[in-house]
Amino acid sequence: MRLVAAELVESRQILPGQWLQSFHAPELASGSRAGQFVHVRTGDYSGLVLRRPFSINTADPATGIVTLHFRTVGRGTEWMARVREGENLDMLGPLGRPFEVDPRSHHLLLVAGGLGMAGIRMLADEAVRDGRQVTILFGALSASHVYPSNLLPDEVEYVVATDDGSLGHHSLVTELLPDYEAWADQAFACGPYPMLARLAQLAAGRRARMGVAKLGRKRGAGRADPLGSTAARRKAFLQVSMEQTMGCAVGACLGCSVIGVEGPVRVCREGPVFAAEEIAWPASA
Ligand code: FES
Repeated sequence: MRLVAAELVESRQILPGQWLQSFHAPELASGSRAGQFVHVRTGDYSGLVLRRPFSINTADPATGIVTLHFRTVGRGTEWMARVREGENLDMLGPLGRPFEVDPRSHHLLLVAGGLGMAGIRMLADEAVRDGRQVTILFGALSASHVYPSNLLPDEVEYVVATDDGSLGHHSLVTELLPDYEAWADQAFACGPYPMLARLAQLAAGRRARMGVAKLGRKRGAGRADPLGSTAARRKAFLQVSMEQTMGCAVGACLGCSVIGVEGPVRVCREGPVFAAEEIAWPASA
């Protein structure tokens, strides 16, 4: 984790109320992994005290550029959207635990709802770089909210579902999961809580439904990896990136806690990425 001065080099609106900003921040670009986030201090003149957390959308060590994708939802993000090119932002990061891909996984299914694309976007880059096949399922309200395909790597299969049927499948994105669960070795998701809860519910029955063996069970069979450990997450079929309001973002205030199966867990420290089985989802989703 570092405190860096990130220079804004490009800012553009890519969807109504959604911005993609590029920052020159070599320390972040070379030290970040998909799923991690930065905590950004808004300018003194904004009158805002708390930093704002943003998923690292992409990170390119070669150019030193990291990008953030966000929606203007309040004073902090409205301030962000007005920052001018050449200005420096104070960023703390990378923070949180990243997605963990099993080295034996060749087919990755990425599922995003709305702004959740920012949470999984970098994983697509990492997976393509590592020679994996990637399918992204993306859900939006309507065609005007669909993430532009030209901002994704060419190698990715991009499948869209819209609530009103104006583009792609006329369904919730979660309802596409059964079509891909046999193909996917692992799935990674980011989006609204109900979406994640539904995916967790669908994924929970996958092993029995598909009759598939657990990855990596032959060696060390019977020795369970501790819940929340990197090894356990790496073996999970579904990992979710949780979105939560944050205060400190370093584990001190407990303001970002969600209920896990073994008690409260902090999204900023134990997450934002969790194996789906770590979270105590509602009984019906
Ligand atoms: S935001 Fe303070 S503990 Fe997570």
